[in-house]
Amino acid sequence: MKKYWSRRIRDMVPYVPGEQPKDRIFIKLNTNENPYPPSEKALMAIQAAADERLRLYPAPGCEDLRQAIAQHHGLLPDQVFPGNGSDEVLAFCFQAFFDPDRTVLFPDITYSFYPVYANFFDLAYHEIPLRDNFDLPVTPFCGRNGGVVIANPNAPTGKSVGLENIRTILDANPEAVVLVDEAYVDFGGISAISLISEYDNLVVVRTLSKSHSLAGLRVGYALGNPNLIAALCCVRDSINSYTLDRVAQAGAAAAIRDESYFLETVEKVIHTRDRCSEELKRMGFIVPESSANFIFISHPALPATKLMDGLRKKGILVRHFDRPRISNYLRVSIGTDQEMDALCAALEKLLESGD
Ligand SMILES: Cc1ncc(COP(=O)(O)O)c(C=O)c1O
Repeated sequence: MKKYWSRRIRDMVPYVPGEQPKDRIFIKLNTNENPYPPSEKALMAIQAAADERLRLYPAPGCEDLRQAIAQHHGLLPDQVFPGNGSDEVLAFCFQAFFDPDRTVLFPDITYSFYPVYANFFDLAYHEIPLRDNFDLPVTPFCGRNGGVVIANPNAPTGKSVGLENIRTILDANPEAVVLVDEAYVDFGGISAISLISEYDNLVVVRTLSKSHSLAGLRVGYALGNPNLIAALCCVRDSINSYTLDRVAQAGAAAAIRDESYFLETVEKVIHTRDRCSEELKRMGFIVPESSANFIFISHPALPATKLMDGLRKKGILVRHFDRPRISNYLRVSIGTDQEMDALCAALEKLLESGD
C-alpha cells in the first residue's frame, strides 16, 4: 500500500466528509445542507447554461458572478474571488497567505479541514483552546502570529463571535492575514464584511452551499482587499485557471440575485432551529445557542454515540466527531419542521428506553 505515493502525502490524514448514503432514504441531518431546494431562478439559469457553449472553456475571470457577489455585499468585483466551493477557496487562502515558518492560529474545536490544510501545506499551526462554554478567547489570538483562521459562526459548535472581537484580533495582527470563514453567517452571525474597507489584512470566505441551497453546485468565494484577491488569483492560476465551470457560474449568479428567495429560506431554517432547540432543552439536552443551520447537542443521560446509533436505526443521520472535549456531542443540521419533529420524537423515544 502507498507504493508510488509522494512522501508529502504518505502520512497525510485527510478530511472525512459526512456520509452521503445511497442505499436507503434517511432524514439527512449530518452535513449541514439546506433542506429547501435552490432558487427556481438558479435552476433555470443552470439549465440555460447547459447548451452547446459547453464545448468552450468558461470565463476564467467569472465576471458576471463576481459582479453579482460584489453587488450583493456592497463591494467591488476586484474584492471578490470565486472558487469551486469554499473548501477550495480556503485551501487557496492557506497557500496564498501563510508561510511555513510563521505559526497560524485557529481554535482547537473548529472546522476540521483547517488542520488538514495546515499539514498538507506544511505550515506550523497552533490550536487555541476554546473556553469550556465554546466561546472564543480573544487574547491568545493577539500575539505575533503568522495568520489567524476563525469560523464565525464556528463549526461544529454554532457559536458566533462579535464584530468587536474580530476587530481586536485584526488590530493585533497587522502583519498577518486574518481569515474569517463565514460559511454559516447568514443564519444569525455578524459578518466582518463591513470591516474589509478598513483592514487590508482581512479575508472573509463565504459559500453558497448552506444559505443558498447549492452544496451540489460547489461555489464559494473570498472577499477582501484587491491585493489579497490578486494573491488568490496567483495561486489559482498556478494550479487550475478554470475552477468554476459555466453552469456553476450561471447558477450561482442567479441564486445570489434571487435575494427574496434566499431570505425566505434562511428565515424558515432559523425559525425551525430555534423551535427545535427549545424542544430539545425541554428534554434535558444541552444546546449551546446556535447562529448556524445546525445545533450542537449533548444529553447527560445517554452518550452521544448511543444516541447517534439509535437515530440511525430510526432512519436519521447526524454527525459525531470523535475528538477531545466534544465526543459527547452531536451536530444536528436543521431540516424541515417535519424532519426536526421526527428527530425530537426519535430522541424522546431513545431517552425513554435508555438505548
Ligand atoms: C466552517 C465551514 N467552512 C467551509 C465549509 C465548506 O463548504 P463548501 O466547500 O461546501 O463551500 C464548511 C462545510 O461544511 C464548513 O463547515
